[in-house]
Amino acid sequence: MGATMLARVLRRLVAWSDSSDAGRRLRAGLLANPLAARAIDALDQRRINRLAKQGDPVERSKRRWRAAEPDRGLSWGEEHSGHGAARVAEAHGVFGPGRRVLEVGPGYGRILGACLESGYEFERYTGLDLSERNVAHLRANFADSRIEFVVGDVENAELAEPVDSVISFLTFKHLYPSFELALANLGAQLRPGGIVLFDLLEGSRAYFHYDASSFIRHYTRDQAGRIVERAGLALAGFDTVEHAPGRERLVVIARAPG
Ligand SMILES: C[S@@+](CC[C@H](N)C(=O)[O-])C[C@H]1O[C@@H](n2cnc3c(N)ncnc32)[C@H](O)[C@@H]1O
Repeated sequence: MGATMLARVLRRLVAWSDSSDAGRRLRAGLLANPLAARAIDALDQRRINRLAKQGDPVERSKRRWRAAEPDRGLSWGEEHSGHGAARVAEAHGVFGPGRRVLEVGPGYGRILGACLESGYEFERYTGLDLSERNVAHLRANFADSRIEFVVGDVENAELAEPVDSVISFLTFKHLYPSFELALANLGAQLRPGGIVLFDLLEGSRAYFHYDASSFIRHYTRDQAGRIVERAGLALAGFDTVEHAPGRERLVVIARAPG
């Protein structure tokens, strides 16, 4: 088999491994092998470089989310409850009387729904999302004077007032090239001692999905910790969240000084 043919077969294999459960299991197995991990990394990087030549990768990575529909396509094509995420946020002190909470990337509102069902307290809950359709859906479905939704980009959004807590699930892993800009912007708008709690895929891979638009990055705990510190926050610890069976993610907890 020639080199071009081999590259084509490998590309197909990588695309399949991004788009099916069986593929993802195979990929996890391959990534455990240093040689295969290096080959996958090289293919991922070539793909990022190739797409970058066709236009700004930051803009490309946001395109899918601007057009996102408020449906279960946002969570693996399955509708999941947000109770796992809500519980981990509550356990780390995100909620409480008088607290102003910001959720980045609320999607179709599964986590807010779980917080309300569980009776977690807050004074104000703001959902910030890049997708106008998501925000229209959320406004229509959560009629509560304490809750508001805003269309905006976490990397540059200016909040009407500082917040005590920021939560974000299944979103920071999509920020290109990393979540650093987002965290720095959020950190500057936290009240002293405020908390930011978000989840990530643990590992070390960065690639554009086969749809050529969704960017996905995995982080090691060290990488995540360094980004938290560069954003002017203190790393308070790690936890895990299970969104659905087999969908466990690393949770990062950071605090503003004061
Ligand atoms: C994969 S969905 C996750 C939705 C929800 N957090 C959940 O767990 O069900 C990612 C969400 O983040 C939003 N999003 C992506 N990039 C964003 C950005 N730069 N600023 C604000 N929201 C963003 C998307 O529109 C989408 O609603």
